Amino acid sequence: MNFSLSEEQLMIKQAAKDFAQNELLPGVIERDEQQKFPKEQVKKMGELGFLGMMVDEKYSGSGLDTLSYVLVMEELSKIDASSSVIVSVNNSLVCWGLETYGTEAQKEKYLHKLATGEIIGAFCLSEPEAGSDATSQKTTAIDKGDHYLLNGTKNWITNGGTAEVYLVIAQTDTEKGHKGINALIVEKGMEGFEIGPKENKLGIRGSDTHSLMFNDVKVPKENRIGEDGFGFKFAMKTLSGGRIGIAAQALGIAAGAYEMALEYAKQRKAFGTEICNHQAIAFKLADMHTKIEAARNLVYRAACDKDAGENYDLSGAMAKLYAAETAMEVATEAVQIHGGNGFVKEYHVERLMRDAKITQIYEGTSEIQKIVISRSIIKG
Ligand code: CAA
Ligand code: FAD
Repeated sequence: MNFSLSEEQLMIKQAAKDFAQNELLPGVIERDEQQKFPKEQVKKMGELGFLGMMVDEKYSGSGLDTLSYVLVMEELSKIDASSSVIVSVNNSLVCWGLETYGTEAQKEKYLHKLATGEIIGAFCLSEPEAGSDATSQKTTAIDKGDHYLLNGTKNWITNGGTAEVYLVIAQTDTEKGHKGINALIVEKGMEGFEIGPKENKLGIRGSDTHSLMFNDVKVPKENRIGEDGFGFKFAMKTLSGGRIGIAAQALGIAAGAYEMALEYAKQRKAFGTEICNHQAIAFKLADMHTKIEAARNLVYRAACDKDAGENYDLSGAMAKLYAAETAMEVATEAVQIHGGNGFVKEYHVERLMRDAKITQIYEGTSEIQKIVISRSIIKG
């Protein structure tokens, strides 16, 4: 597969790199320490078109391809994975889900604002008893004729406090199992909808993660996405693309940590020479570089599969698995190469190591990716 980038894709990548350097890097340590949501930065990313990258221009999106989107995710994530997860959720889970499966009225009502970043969205599948085991939904959406009555709790929701629009997965008919699940659009402020306190996290601390409580929330029927019972398939199909975005995030974290480690190793001296001249360090750099290149190939391949209209369940899962494992390994080695400096905040790599961990957990843990991959290859 040929990954030579077009002039336009190179320009977009450069724009994201410049934005990350000029707008995300200043204050990234403070935002991480204080768990501060990057409000100003999100507004600017909306203005640059980064929040609705693949959305059609007729819905105020940028109308770009998935490869352009992963290039942006990679560049932003080199510097600030807290900001890039906001981009990923808004683009791949919320905008893509709505544009692909929403009604014209839903798109007109929500997509323009979401694509421009005027508002941001959240995707709400996980529950206290339904994380990896996502079909075990306990949140209920009971059919009351002209509306659904929504009750239950979602947890770990990215953009949970800052979003205005929430795509909520809930069980309507328990007897039908996963075929009795629906996806509903819930708006902030609907009566009975409460947002729990912000989680205090290991990594991506600038992104806000909350539990959400629904207590007899009346959701109009017209807010259902797709046919009755389509909710689980909606979640799975949407997550297949979401995993490409998170794979790109992991790739960016790995590449960012590696670039810093390489620079450091070329300058830091020990035993009379730069530490990159010690084979133990040089070989670490060789392994890091090789794994990042392999991860990049998988991520771009998955994006190109999606753009070509091919099935990307398998390539997306492989990209997410490999890039996440690479991010954790490379970021840990980057800390090691920095020695004591790697352990303090001003050198950034400790944050990248903490941020890398989440890529092995959300949008399907590494173990879940192996389930998806193995089922796919066994089925053929
Ligand atoms: N596309 C379409 N349909 C799919 C699908 C896909 N990619 N994957 C599964 N399905 C369908 C199956 O075909 C099946 O339908 P049928 O019975 O009609 O054939 C149905 O869904 C149930 O599938 P399984 O029998 O395979 O279900 P399972 O219970 O074995 O679980 C699973 C499958 C892949 C493990 C799934 O539960 C899963 O993906 N779990 C992980 C959940 C997850 O990724 N959560 C992420 C939350 S969002 C998030 O994390 C955002 C963030 O951090 C920023
Ligand atoms: P569990 O499912 O309890 O898993 C625990 C361990 O068991 C894991 O190692 C898992 O891999 C393993 N395991 C479970 N089942 C199997 C199996 N069958 N085979 C082998 N191993 C298995 N969710 C959303 O819906 N929306 C969001 O926006 C969102 N954002 C998140 C942001 C953060 C910061 C975090 C931490 C989570 C977020 N999540 C979100 C939830 C995330 O998707 C879940 O945490 C994840 O899917 C794992 O579910 P769990 O935490 O319940 O772990």
